[in-house]
Amino acid sequence: MDDHKPPEIASGIYWVGVVDWNLRDFHGYQTPKGGSYNAYLIVDEKIALIDTVKAQFSGEMLERISQIVDPARIDYVISNHVEMDHSSSIPAIMDVATNAKLFASSKGQAGLAEYYKEEGFDKWDIEVVGTGTELSLGKRTLMFIEATMLHWPDSMQTYVKEDRILFSNDAFGQHVATSKRFDDEVEDVMEDAGIYYANILLPFGSQVLKYVGKLKELDVSPSMIAPAHGVIWRKGVQRIVEAYGRWAHGDSVAKVLVIYDTMWGSTEKMALEIVEGARESGVEVRLRHLRKNDWSMTMKELMDASVVAIGSPTMNNGMFFTIAGFLNYMKGLRPKDKKYFLFGSYGWGGGAIKAMEKEMEDARFELVMESMQVKFRPYEEDKEACRNIGYKLGEIAKENAKS
Ligand code: FEO
Repeated sequence: MDDHKPPEIASGIYWVGVVDWNLRDFHGYQTPKGGSYNAYLIVDEKIALIDTVKAQFSGEMLERISQIVDPARIDYVISNHVEMDHSSSIPAIMDVATNAKLFASSKGQAGLAEYYKEEGFDKWDIEVVGTGTELSLGKRTLMFIEATMLHWPDSMQTYVKEDRILFSNDAFGQHVATSKRFDDEVEDVMEDAGIYYANILLPFGSQVLKYVGKLKELDVSPSMIAPAHGVIWRKGVQRIVEAYGRWAHGDSVAKVLVIYDTMWGSTEKMALEIVEGARESGVEVRLRHLRKNDWSMTMKELMDASVVAIGSPTMNNGMFFTIAGFLNYMKGLRPKDKKYFLFGSYGWGGGAIKAMEKEMEDARFELVMESMQVKFRPYEEDKEACRNIGYKLGEIAKENAKS
């Protein structure tokens, strides 16, 4: 029955990936909607497999390929990226497709050599390719494009010139588990792509801008972008490429993001008053309690906020552990052009504000006004001060919005 055949995304080109419905954590990036690892099979005079899946799912991928062709007939395996979610089923496929040739970027080859010494790397027939290298499949031509630091040094993409399909690997992905394969079949795809960008690609804005320029130079104008995670872009190709341009440029809106944690509710009361003041100023406001909200979505909220207020109670002379962990995570993702304000409560010595200030200096955010601390609990005058601060932060958010 054809119903069980893997989805044909274009004539002779099939999705042979897997959906990871239970994925809730992708090396620390929380994925409440699950995920997928997309591999694609092109059946032409030569048969090519583009990327593979996490090793634990290699059997499922091989079964899917078997519904189209005998996997032993695969001629070419393209490894666009060495990270394990895409490469760790290469050993399984090379064991079956014994005549297959493997293609990777130069750094990809080096990475595969390091990862798969014990799985037969020395026996594999591997060819290094670079930007502009072409490989004929018969009727179709693959062209490789190095996508350095989108998001690893080895990252590469594969373009089918005749079909104008860009197999973009991690770029343009989303972590979402769905039975649908295309962007126009799901809701919230831009939101999911934004969360993905904020947690995977945010540190590499200048490389993303260079890469978008390179696509133009190479005359690559895809009609379809097939990433290695999530759904395939067919309706929203232009929309997602433009969004990458904005995100890479560091665009922001007049928005105040309030991030906090709390022990006995005092820091939370301050956070709520800041939210109220910012709301009164007329800007968009978001509130994120770090033990009740995932950090991945918080990073998405931060990506387009022009001002962030961060609140922590003092615990053991320092900041609360969730705030410490989040600030460390955030620093690594290097958001740019953000202004900030700090607040919190303490019982005796204090210490949270000082510890947070150090982190924020490292993150190169700009302090916009003196931090505010209250001892034990905020009284009415403190709450009023927080509301006034929130209003001022809203005004600053308007001035600092960047497009
Ligand atoms: Fe989807 Fe960088 O791995």
